[in-house]
Amino acid sequence: MQGLMATLLVWALLHPGGGNVWPTHTVCRNDGLEILYQSCDPLQDFGFSIDQCSKQLKANLNIRFGMILREDIKELFLEAALISKGVSIFTLSYPICESDHPKFSFCGRRKGEQFYYSGPVNNAELEIPKGEYEVLLKLYNERRSILACANATVICY
Ligand SMILES: *[C@@H]1O[C@H](CO)[C@@H](O)[C@H](O)[C@H]1NC(C)=O
Repeated sequence: MQGLMATLLVWALLHPGGGNVWPTHTVCRNDGLEILYQSCDPLQDFGFSIDQCSKQLKANLNIRFGMILREDIKELFLEAALISKGVSIFTLSYPICESDHPKFSFCGRRKGEQFYYSGPVNNAELEIPKGEYEVLLKLYNERRSILACANATVICY
């Protein structure tokens, strides 16, 4: 009986929202680098792309990101974690929209509206070291409601 409960619990944790598993999207695949992502928000998937696919990451990478807003975004925060071989090597929490300092035109958009961003991210130039990485990303608002959640795999040969 206890074994059955444990099995059910594990199943429920692995299938949030009753089995809603989103497809894996390929952002980039060339001879040195592969980037895949999957939405971990049980309620929606989203679109994401980048303008370069090279382990030699240039500064000011251009990205495209689109989704439908489930909540207002007076304030918006990004939380990211980089994991390698099960060990967290880097975490980041970054304000994208602050009510008194809206950096982007989409700040202040309302629930139900479309969110679309196409433009640069303020990244540094770097070479991605060989290895396999897991990246967990979360966007949430001032009430800590999740707007988007993703887990990505980055494989660099
Ligand atoms: C996202 O996480 C799930 C559950 O841990 C895993 O099965 C899946 O392969 C991951 N997807 C990507 C693209 O990393």
